[in-house]
Amino acid sequence: MRRVVCPGSFDPVTNGHLDIVTRAAKLYDEVVVAVLRNPNKSPLFSVDERVEMLREVTRGLENVQVARFDGLIVDFCKANDVSAIVKGLRAVSDFDYELQMAQMNYNQAGVETVFISTNPLYAFLSSSLVKDFAKYGGDVTSLVPGPVLDRLKVRAAEAP
Ligand code: PNS
Repeated sequence: MRRVVCPGSFDPVTNGHLDIVTRAAKLYDEVVVAVLRNPNKSPLFSVDERVEMLREVTRGLENVQVARFDGLIVDFCKANDVSAIVKGLRAVSDFDYELQMAQMNYNQAGVETVFISTNPLYAFLSSSLVKDFAKYGGDVTSLVPGPVLDRLKVRAAEAP
């Protein structure tokens, strides 16, 4: 059985993320979407909220599970019998750092990374831009799944 992981902050999950997860789910037996708890970042949504949103929007994908992780992704892979990390690549600007991480993860733990080219529809999309636009009244309806849009509106209204 081939189990892979799609790791990230997912603060919040966007249609770009969902596209990659959906495509990975067609290629592999099982996909674990792993949400990083990163103490160095101050997220808009808590890990629990991010996990909840991911569970909601991946409900229709039978071979997708959602988990959280701290620490190194390669340790998560070893502990969960994951054979590869799957990442979306949006543009050349993503490539340098993604390549470096992939090489480090292979060097340190023999864990492979597989890149899926992002759908050009979402090549410009990032959680950070979505948050900025939502915060200042932009319309991000076409960029995030419905349940995320609802929560973003509430959170943006609460923001100082
Ligand atoms: O959505 P993001 O924030 O771009 O995701 C980055 C993430 C979580 C995939 C990456 O930072 C990561 O794998 N972090 C876990 C810690 C780790 O293993 N660091 C070494 C990577 S070589």
